[in-house]
Amino acid sequence: MSLFITFEGGEGSGKSYQARTIYRKLVRLAVPALLTHEPGGTPLGERLTRLLKWAKDTDLSPIAELMLFNASRAQLVTTVIKPALASGQAVICDRYTDSTVAYQGYGRGLDMALITAINHAATQGLTPDLAILLDVPVEIGLARKQGRGADRFHREDLSFHQRVRAGYLKLAAQEPSRWLVIDGARPKDEIARIIWERVSRLLAYRQDQ
Ligand code: TMP
Repeated sequence: MSLFITFEGGEGSGKSYQARTIYRKLVRLAVPALLTHEPGGTPLGERLTRLLKWAKDTDLSPIAELMLFNASRAQLVTTVIKPALASGQAVICDRYTDSTVAYQGYGRGLDMALITAINHAATQGLTPDLAILLDVPVEIGLARKQGRGADRFHREDLSFHQRVRAGYLKLAAQEPSRWLVIDGARPKDEIARIIWERVSRLLAYRQDQ
């Protein structure tokens, strides 16, 4: 029984908290599970993350940025996610290819066909069974992150973050069966309950297969 679930959202959306919460719940229920994140999740990925989040803006062109996110992803998919799914684990990943479409595509304005091709090469076509979008107004998300040190993305202007948010909502509207969109301004435990409802149904369905 393998299951691949990703968490998506803008800055300060609360997705990392919810990814940890569902992972812990699965572990408590003795469901074999793995929690990982992008960028990072491997020794190579963690080195790339430092560059991606903290390099001076002028040090990275948008295309170089796209390639580095996907280098990190290729390593994670090959060495961590695919083996875990093959061994029957549920994989929870904090960000995945939809982040690239939202940030590098809608945010930076890179060509969508190029992004799709590179994402596909890095993942060998592995797509999540469910993508969970925590949607929060940009000002609320950025304010939540205040004081945690502004990385390259946090420092982008409001319009960049608004394009990312609108991009995510567009993606979810295009493929509603693959997405669960939740208002990220709701109380944390209410959000966790909504997520569990959906994930437990998916698990039950998989176990019947
Ligand atoms: P996070 O740890 O807050 O999720 O930070 C990761 C940052 O990297 C976040 O600002 C979104 C950005 N990002 C992209 O721009 N493209 C990607 O493909 C991924 C995975 C993340």
